[in-house]
Amino acid sequence: MPNIQLDGLTKRFGDIEILHGISLEMSDAEFTVLVGPSGCGKSTTLRMIAGLETVSAGEIYIDGRPISHLEPKDRDLAMVFQDYALYPHMNVANNMSFALRLQKRPRKEIDARIREVADMLGLTPYLHRKPAELSGGQRQRVAMGRALTRDSSTFLFDEPLSNLDAKLRTQMRAELALMRQRVHKNMIYVTHDQIEAMTLADRIVVMHDGHIQQQGAPEELYKNPVNKFVAGFLGTPPMNFLYATIESQGDFTYLTGDGFSLRCDVPTLQRLANYTDGEICLGIRPSDLVFNPHADVTTSLSLRVDIAEYIGAQSVLICHCGNQKVMVELKSDTPITLGKQLTFSMALEDLHLFNPSNECAIPRLVDVEATRLIKTTGGNYV
Ligand SMILES: Nc1ncnc2c1ncn2[C@@H]1O[C@H](COP(=O)(O)OP(=O)(O)O)[C@@H](O)[C@H]1O
Ligand SMILES: [Mg+2]
Repeated sequence: MPNIQLDGLTKRFGDIEILHGISLEMSDAEFTVLVGPSGCGKSTTLRMIAGLETVSAGEIYIDGRPISHLEPKDRDLAMVFQDYALYPHMNVANNMSFALRLQKRPRKEIDARIREVADMLGLTPYLHRKPAELSGGQRQRVAMGRALTRDSSTFLFDEPLSNLDAKLRTQMRAELALMRQRVHKNMIYVTHDQIEAMTLADRIVVMHDGHIQQQGAPEELYKNPVNKFVAGFLGTPPMNFLYATIESQGDFTYLTGDGFSLRCDVPTLQRLANYTDGEICLGIRPSDLVFNPHADVTTSLSLRVDIAEYIGAQSVLICHCGNQKVMVELKSDTPITLGKQLTFSMALEDLHLFNPSNECAIPRLVDVEATRLIKTTGGNYV
């Protein structure tokens, strides 16, 4: 597969710069997902790769060759848009074969290609229907099929599932995951939905305000977010953030905030060894809190449980620790009383720590390399 590289990619609309020098490398039939909140510049990045937007500065390389001067049709890319953009007067087969017919490919080759792709996407029974006679999910598959028949080396997807209802989205997500096992091509997929990103990606690229915050395998980003933004963006319910001061009392160091005081263990102290600020932000995943009435106060939070949201096997508790909101995710059969102050313990190694002034993570272990990178790059290391 060709290697795609973005080097200092910058986009300005008039005087406003909305992408601030994005650098990224994708290779080896990788499924790369650009994820971030609405307006962070995901679609613009994709459209620049496709050739639908000009590049203000920087360059896009495919296999080492700069391509930003090439027309979209000369880039060997196929794009699937959010709104499908199907031709309403053509049936499914003709929608899917449109590009091949334009290229005047032999009829036999076109038929074989349509059969293959329709079979893969479960569209064989619908080849003679018009888009208006299809469900949203089927239309979505036709849009995908139209891109796949083109046999390009790279596929670009811009929020292809966002027009579908929740159930269909889940179903199509699984189908996409199946499709990518069969199609060994580069895929660049844009979404604002972190669950789509986590479930589909080989590599997630988290964007915010026209910058890349972090990139890596989903698990790596989930476990070791480099900053508070990534930590809060990936994971549902989202990570809890509690503000604390670092206080020494006798032989011990405590992280003390509104309604709690956690005693640091030796690894946490080592983690804080180079940290000179007295204030800290703690990040706690809702699933890392365990209901434990007998927990020691120095390793637990006392939470007032306000609401329990039952979602089946799991429930989400919406609680307060002092005046700070905290969410807990636990098994629904856990005996919880609403309105009461209950104790939830946690393992200190699960705790995420952030510098509250620059929001960068304080690495989990004494990871000298990570510390160096955070210091030299302000946390935006990849
Ligand atoms: N043609 C345009 N002219 C001016 N501003 C634009 C244009 N297209 C996008 N933008 C702005 O660029 C920013 C990023 O947009 P976009 O890439 O569509 O974000 P995303 O896809 O992440 O939601 C937004 O603030 C948007 O308003
Ligand atoms: Mg977009």
